[in-house]
Amino acid sequence: MKKDLISGYDLERGDFDVIFETAARLKKSLKAGESIASLKGKTLGMIFDKSSTRTRISFEVGMYQLGGNALFLSGRDIQIGRGETIADTARIMSRYLDGVMIRTYSHESVEEFAKYATIPVINGLTDLLHPCQVLTDLFTIIEKKGGYEGLKICYAGDGNNMANSWVIAASRLPFHLDLACPEGYDPDPDILKRAMSEAPLGITLHRDPELAVRDADVLYTDTWVSMGQEDERDEKIQRFEGFQVDQRLVDKAGKDVIVMHCLPAHRGEEITAEVIDGPRSVIFDEAENRLHVQKAIMELLMKER
Ligand code: CP
Ligand code: NVA
Repeated sequence: MKKDLISGYDLERGDFDVIFETAARLKKSLKAGESIASLKGKTLGMIFDKSSTRTRISFEVGMYQLGGNALFLSGRDIQIGRGETIADTARIMSRYLDGVMIRTYSHESVEEFAKYATIPVINGLTDLLHPCQVLTDLFTIIEKKGGYEGLKICYAGDGNNMANSWVIAASRLPFHLDLACPEGYDPDPDILKRAMSEAPLGITLHRDPELAVRDADVLYTDTWVSMGQEDERDEKIQRFEGFQVDQRLVDKAGKDVIVMHCLPAHRGEEITAEVIDGPRSVIFDEAENRLHVQKAIMELLMKER
């Protein structure tokens, strides 16, 4: 594995499998009450410039369960918020910490941090990507469906950081990705272009969610208004009319479809409460799996350093 996990491009096919196998082992050990202290004495710094429930708690609890410690560092409170450079911050943190997780706006900032850090850097979400989430989603699909190979995964909604992360995953792994996005809200064009030529099984971009969802094994959505886009809210709610994941859309998918959402959900906007709480939803198991998959990522990146 490479030093950092900034995007799915950092992972070879075999790395995905190692992460999923490690997560399964750690999950099993935790459920059996066995303690694993593979990161004893190590500390993860967690820099947050945006809100979080799942990411913060799962990384912090994950470090605790692996015998280490996690530090919550609000971007507002460290000197980076007053203009200390990313490069200097990365160099300094590398002298104290064994790994850093960053959630911020600019993807380039995380890349720059990783360039100057000598310790592993994990992307905890940027405006462009959310790699820990898509790895968790794939792990959840393996648990629920026995694997992802050959499945049809439909992403209906905004071409945001989650959509981009799915597109990169489809460029690395053999599943079909059918995207349904309103015009003007497609995934990142460079990521999409590269993935269209590299994807083993193909990526299709639809405008009609009903077509995209046909025979889908997995139906995925995310908020229409990501963090930092609050000013676009009214316009987006209008433009996404017809893209809501409701029971009617679920009924048009494959008969054994599972419904996924990275959360937080806006019940009644991109997805209905009926679907989130309904029999096809695996959304809460998916959220739990953030803990197991991120423990695997931290163990694999930080254990030997
Ligand atoms: N899915 C996810 O990253 O949730 P949080 O924003 O609560 O961390
Ligand atoms: N697309 C969402 C994901 C939240 C986990 C956002 O960036 O706000």
